[in-house]
Amino acid sequence: MNKKISITKLKPGMYVADLGSDWMSHPFLRSAFKVKDEATVQKLIDSGMKEVYIDPARGDDVVDAPTAKEVIGQLEGAMMELAAASAPPARISATEEMGRAKKIHGEANRIIRGIMQDVRLGKQVTIEQAEPVVEKITDSILRNGGALLSLTRVKNKDDYTFMHSVSVCALQVTFCRAMGLDAATTQLAGLGGLLHDIGKVRVPNEILNKPGKLTEEEFKVMKCHVVESKKILSETDGIGETSILVASQHHERHDGSGYPEGLKGEAISQMGQMAAICDVYDAITSDRVYHKGMAPHEALRKILEWSKFHFSPTLTQAFLRVIGIYPIGTLVMLESGRLAVVLDQSEGKMLQPVVKAFYDSRKRSYIVPQEVDLSRPLGFGGGDKIVGHEKADKWGVDLARFA
Ligand SMILES: [Fe+2]
Repeated sequence: MNKKISITKLKPGMYVADLGSDWMSHPFLRSAFKVKDEATVQKLIDSGMKEVYIDPARGDDVVDAPTAKEVIGQLEGAMMELAAASAPPARISATEEMGRAKKIHGEANRIIRGIMQDVRLGKQVTIEQAEPVVEKITDSILRNGGALLSLTRVKNKDDYTFMHSVSVCALQVTFCRAMGLDAATTQLAGLGGLLHDIGKVRVPNEILNKPGKLTEEEFKVMKCHVVESKKILSETDGIGETSILVASQHHERHDGSGYPEGLKGEAISQMGQMAAICDVYDAITSDRVYHKGMAPHEALRKILEWSKFHFSPTLTQAFLRVIGIYPIGTLVMLESGRLAVVLDQSEGKMLQPVVKAFYDSRKRSYIVPQEVDLSRPLGFGGGDKIVGHEKADKWGVDLARFA
């Protein structure tokens, strides 16, 4: 069983099992290895690491350190409390919104692809190209926030940068809405989200799409995309400062370990701090060539854990409340032993969503799909409850057929 320790307790002879950080921040480091010397420990400290997980079965132990299971238990408890908040009101059901959300998602992907191609050819960004689709994204989220967000988790590897840009836009808009920010600020934040990685057009393709670990040199080049994004957007006519902040601060970290400026705490704007959370959440829930994406609740748990150092704890809690621990498309186990996929939030009840039960885990067989509103009692379309999250691979079920 892995244990979590402060980096100050890490010694040669221990086996690092998990760096306790998102892999995009340190793509040149191996995530599991035996610590050979003090220089390795120093390199981790220099990279901004504060805590790591060690595997005592493969190296030296730290006796009084908490186990991964204990850490997870504590975080899950905190998440349940936060997520017990009321669900944001939706004007229509996710099923009703889904058709429109798919069209808007496709359109947004085409637009950001076009803009990035133009910039690569030396043209300027014209915000008129992007503004209408950000409005459409906001409207879709106001009708039902879950529909469009459920689409953002699926990424096609060749289009990752475009799809990630659309996701960050949708997440940023959702986040702003939950924070009660006004419509004009939300629009600027969404536009910033859509354009936040535009500087990647200046990163060579072999680094941008490298199907594996980057070297330290390559990572230095990759990091430049933030400065390039800021430059490109600063030269864009009519762009608002809020949109530029999303792009220029999305890799800053609360403890000062981020880049490009290493800003700390409140020196990072609220918009920049929100963008950092949205950016990491989308990146770690996405499948990459060399990394399998995490399920949403696992990603939220990680972000909550990392918020001790990397993100604003208050904003992280607000983000967790709005995404909820059962986002649409999540696979859950019901008390009845049925596997179900989350279809929608029920009005006001984040922990009791509407689900579709489709598999009997005890008989290990598919059943006639049944929609269950977990906020309602038995006999009124409900009468079951979620006992935990499940992984689709473990059961060999095809979620896409039922979501
Ligand atoms: Fe980025």
